[in-house]
Amino acid sequence: MDYYIAPSLLSADFGRLDEEVRAAEKAGADMLHVDVMDGRFVPNITIGPPVVAAIKRCAKVPLDVHLMIVEPERYIDVFAGAGADVITVHPEATCHLQRAVARIRELGKKAGVALNPSTSLSAVEWVLSDVDMVLIMTVNPGFGGQAFLPSMVGKIELLRTQLSRSGLVVDIEVDGGIKADNVAEVVKAGANVIVSGSGIFGTKDYGKTISKMKENIRKAVER
Ligand code: DX5
Ligand code: ZN
Repeated sequence: MDYYIAPSLLSADFGRLDEEVRAAEKAGADMLHVDVMDGRFVPNITIGPPVVAAIKRCAKVPLDVHLMIVEPERYIDVFAGAGADVITVHPEATCHLQRAVARIRELGKKAGVALNPSTSLSAVEWVLSDVDMVLIMTVNPGFGGQAFLPSMVGKIELLRTQLSRSGLVVDIEVDGGIKADNVAEVVKAGANVIVSGSGIFGTKDYGKTISKMKENIRKAVER
C-alpha cells in the first residue's frame, strides 16, 4: 500500500500561501489538502475556487480538495476547473451522491466521499466502486486544531476490512487531530492518506515533522 501525507493548508499562514505551499512541498508533502467551507454545511467559511486556482499555480503536488459545502454537485465543475486533482464530497450534503462522484470521475479527477464522525459506513456502501477514496473524519468538520476522536479507529478498521473483502482498491483518508504521535494508530487501522493541519503547520520545522510522521508510518506497517 502507498502512504501519503497531505498537509491541510487551513492551518497555513494565508498571508504567505505561496511560501507555505513551497515549504510544505520541500518538507515532503505528497499532496496538499484544501478545505472548502460554506458556512452552511459547517459553521466556518474558508476559501473558494479563485484561491484554489492560486494554490494550483504555485503547487507541484496534487491538490486534494475537501468540499464541506451543501449541494456540492453545483460546484464540482468549477473546482475541477480551478485545478483540484481529488475532489471529496460529503453524503450528508447531497441527495445524489452517486451522480456527484460520477461527475468528478467524468471530469478526469479522483473522487472521494467524506463521512462525518456520526455517519455510518453504510452511507458509502453503494458507491464504493465509484470512488477512489473514502475520507473518515476524525473530528467534526469545520475547524482545524480539534482533538482526534479515538472512536473513529474502529470505523477505519471496519472500512478497511470491508474493502479487502470486496477486493476494491480504495484509499482511506483520515482528517482531524492527526499528529506525528497518533499517525501510527490510524495507519495500523487501515488509513493510508494522512491529512494534518495544525500537526504540521503548528510545528516549527515542517520537514522534521513530516519525516517523523513517515518514520512512524514505516514502523507501524513493518510490524
Ligand atoms: C476540518 C478540516 C481539516 C482540518 C484539519 O474540518 O477538514 O482538514 O484542517 O486540521 P487539524 O489537522 O488541525 O485537525
Ligand atoms: Zn479537510
